[in-house]
Amino acid sequence: MEMVNLTINGRSVSAPSGSTILKAAKDVGIDIPTLCDHPSLTPIGACRMCTVEVEGQRTLVTACTFPVADNMVVQTESPRVVKARKLVLELLFSERNHICPSCESSGNCELQELGYRYGIDHWKYPAITKRFPIDATHRYMFLEHNRCVLCGRCERGCGELAANHTLGLGNRGSDSIINCDAMTPWGSSTCVSCGTCLQLCPTGAISDKRSAFMGRDTETERVKSTCNRCSIGCGIEVATRSNNVLRIEGDWEAVVNGGRLCENGRFAPLFESRKRITKPLVKTGDRQTEATWDKALSTAAELLGSVGGAEIGAVTTSDATNEALYLLSLIFRDNLKVSNVGMVNGAVPVLPGLPCGSLQDMLQSDIIIAAGVDPVSDQPVASFFVKRAVDLGARLILVDDKENELAPFASKKLGINEISTAADIAGEAASPFVLYGAGIAGDAMRALAKLGDKALFLALQPGVNTYAADALGFNNGFTPKSAKVLFAQIGEEGLTTGHMLAGIDDKTALIVQASYQSPLTQRADIVLPATIWSERKGSLTNSEGRVQKVNQAIKPQGEVKSDWEILSLLAETLTGKPPVTSLEELSTLAQQKITNKEI
Ligand code: SF4
Ligand code: SF4
Ligand code: SF4
Ligand code: FES
Repeated sequence: MEMVNLTINGRSVSAPSGSTILKAAKDVGIDIPTLCDHPSLTPIGACRMCTVEVEGQRTLVTACTFPVADNMVVQTESPRVVKARKLVLELLFSERNHICPSCESSGNCELQELGYRYGIDHWKYPAITKRFPIDATHRYMFLEHNRCVLCGRCERGCGELAANHTLGLGNRGSDSIINCDAMTPWGSSTCVSCGTCLQLCPTGAISDKRSAFMGRDTETERVKSTCNRCSIGCGIEVATRSNNVLRIEGDWEAVVNGGRLCENGRFAPLFESRKRITKPLVKTGDRQTEATWDKALSTAAELLGSVGGAEIGAVTTSDATNEALYLLSLIFRDNLKVSNVGMVNGAVPVLPGLPCGSLQDMLQSDIIIAAGVDPVSDQPVASFFVKRAVDLGARLILVDDKENELAPFASKKLGINEISTAADIAGEAASPFVLYGAGIAGDAMRALAKLGDKALFLALQPGVNTYAADALGFNNGFTPKSAKVLFAQIGEEGLTTGHMLAGIDDKTALIVQASYQSPLTQRADIVLPATIWSERKGSLTNSEGRVQKVNQAIKPQGEVKSDWEILSLLAETLTGKPPVTSLEELSTLAQQKITNKEI
């Protein structure tokens, strides 16, 4: 990498050629204030907050867009620069409503922070407070034009990160406003409720309806974790206050999603209304009654010990952590010699011996085949990457026999029996990427595999932790009917439990590990209450095969325990000794088995 040498505030600095003054300064710890700039977005130099003085330049320049050059001399806080920044701030504060004490973002607003930094306690211009309407039509967010500084971060985020292009700039001059689909109410626009704009807005112009006025940033705690809503495994930051989750945000540093989240990851968990199970339950006669953990576990161990391995079944959903899957295999397959062990939904086979690509890799590809997969509804953040790659010039070939929401973005649509044509076209491209899912199998997979090392491949798994469940041997034919005693690890999953119940014999003794009440838990002889996403620790493996940590954000409700803790206690009750000494040891053992999976 070619480097250039420059001086910033009298300090010698080396920076890669082509980087901006802002980046070069930041890398050596020199802070230049910004407002319209964001590291995940293309800089546009709109707000002029980052202006700096460069020797030899007639005017001040914007550090977020101006490239470094050899022997450049930069001043970032000279009197001329500070005067210009104050002017910008006075103009911004004099227009629209920036009465901070009545704003939800007060204490967490970049404009307010800049006001403090440059001592803006009054402004010499007459205030222009036109009354723009508030758009409150969106289910999750308000758009308060009166607090907007027209920095365009929301618009760029919607286009560049979510690739949805709902937001744009409407009207002219001082009447300019951010608007949806050329002046459509937000709630009836093409918005997919990803909340990227909410996370990017530096002021109180876009706010979250649910957590508004429930806690400033300084009053909240933040924990990084991994979304458990689909197999993408997006990095999240959970904001909590007094043991309540206030907000979920995308982790800008997460390699998988780079800050993006979908509606399901950002908002849905906050609107969960199912009833929790907070204490172990044991059936006596026809009634379930609350029991101690000791009682529930010893009853479960007795039930499992009353039959041979051939009469036991164990099933898991893909919500289980790596650690729980490892222990489930250890207890049932290794200790109890159970062969009827499986997963509620099957895995998508990973094409053996072929290079695995990441979502980020898609942005460098010139052609994408999406075969038997509809990420728009199933793994939305993956669809943001596909659409962004198309925006950047990649061609999308869609191979599916069903209706597919990626269709409007495809340059070619083929049926699954035409998949060889797709592979032939991709074979001519420089950097093809193949995204495939449960909709293809057999010959179709072999046709794709012909691309070999030329392409990158990514199998989008249907469930959260399906990759790990498959690697740990749960992807086989499980038959609930033949089990006299059935252990079902359900976790938070709800959709599949009714269907599972239909396959279970009336006489089967049922032990269920679950977080929420369902027809399955009501039918169970023993219920072992499990934590939900925000309460548990452990790890998950995403579709890329990346093992990622799940961190506890709030204390568990009632007496619930993490899925792996429950299984560890069950193993101890069955054998008389704990299977592992710590979560760290368990995570290492699980990870070794998952990453050693032969593909
Ligand atoms: S929520 Fe997402 S899709 Fe909707 S306007 Fe904001 S960035 Fe665009
Ligand atoms: S709504 Fe927020 S992010 Fe969008 S332009 Fe206005 S201030 Fe900037
Ligand atoms: S794409 Fe999947 S992992 Fe990412 S935020 Fe949405 S539900 Fe969560
Ligand atoms: S941050 Fe550089 S112009 Fe806005």
